[in-house]
Amino acid sequence: MTTGSRRHGETGDAAAAPSVELRDIRKSFGGITAVDGISLVVGQGEFLTLLGPSGCGKTTTLRMIGGFELPTSGEVYIGGQPMGDRPPYRRPVNTVFQNYALFPHLTVGQNVAYGLEMAGVGKKERARRTTEALEMVRLPHVERRKPAELSGGQQQRVALARALVNRPAVLLLDEPLGALDLKLRKAMQMELKALNREVGATFIYVTHDQDEALTMSDRIAVMRDGRVQQLGTPAEMYERPRNRFVADFIGQTNFLAVEVADLDGEWAIGRAAGGQRVRVRRADGTMRGELATLAVRPEKVMLRADAPERPDWNHLEGVLEEAIYLGAHSQYVLRLPADERIIVHRQNRAVGEEEPRLGETTVVVFDPAAATLLND
Ligand SMILES: Nc1ncnc2c1ncn2[C@@H]1O[C@H](COP(=O)(O)OP(=O)(O)O)[C@@H](O)[C@H]1O
Ligand SMILES: [Mg+2]
Repeated sequence: MTTGSRRHGETGDAAAAPSVELRDIRKSFGGITAVDGISLVVGQGEFLTLLGPSGCGKTTTLRMIGGFELPTSGEVYIGGQPMGDRPPYRRPVNTVFQNYALFPHLTVGQNVAYGLEMAGVGKKERARRTTEALEMVRLPHVERRKPAELSGGQQQRVALARALVNRPAVLLLDEPLGALDLKLRKAMQMELKALNREVGATFIYVTHDQDEALTMSDRIAVMRDGRVQQLGTPAEMYERPRNRFVADFIGQTNFLAVEVADLDGEWAIGRAAGGQRVRVRRADGTMRGELATLAVRPEKVMLRADAPERPDWNHLEGVLEEAIYLGAHSQYVLRLPADERIIVHRQNRAVGEEEPRLGETTVVVFDPAAATLLND
């Protein structure tokens, strides 16, 4: 394994060299289907996140890659090789769990070196690689301390060093930052991303936290009920969510009912609340005459006074019902006809900016390209 030889931007190309491939893997526990047919390819050195609510099958998927569970059907490939029923220690993989369980009676150095000792690596080489692994996680000079003498964040880094010390091709991480407070978690997110670039190993990361997924990942797989709902880069997932579940799980979204009147290439033209005309990006399955759901993010919707004069943009009229100052931005809620609501986020730039008044009829506008019809 080379260190520091890759530059930013070289990750995430799954087509280059598959590191991990899942082919239709399923897992049932008695009557419960935990994983219901997942197929995906992870590229060499890629940072892929499995994101979804509790119980959607993230941990079970990770455990099948690591060899802690065997699939009921389907196959896991690592480095092009089918893993079959190979046990964890015979896979080029290491795992960091949420409860990182360091041995309390061993020093930090002994904790990190433990796996190397089990593998029969000689003393000198062990010492060298232990020091190197602790430097990787930016924790030099703590080898002789006991885990209890370190902070939670430092202990988590020792757990990472322990997983990195035998240079796995693939690192599996199951909510490893869950026990840390928010500020430390944010700092560790940046460090994990940097570590992924430096070390060159493939990272497969499990979390239920959308911010964490957006911060670190080359690609995100959003899961629900044992299946992948959508797989893409953070920007793709945010800008082009395929269905309501993904749109709702990543970020905040306005959903409006639209009756589709006409289709024009990649566009759909329809009527929203109260018959107001809208033009939006269609979904794959959008049909003329159907009642569909439009999704548009609050920061893409503007008060007319803030927007450029663009007749081709969508204009919706409603009554301003709520205005909340939130520091970096303000949130406005407009009541549209048919009792729908649309939320607007406006960046706060200048003190004394013109404020719309509650109860007034107000027009909001958005670019047709910023709105999508959903596939369900
Ligand atoms: N060893 C097990 N025995 C029985 N059911 C399990 C077992 N492991 C997981 N499950 C069930 O499988 C589903 C998915 O669990 P899990 O993979 O842990 O989800 P997540 O990590 O996304 O929270 C849940 O319904 C869970 O209760
Ligand atoms: Mg889990």
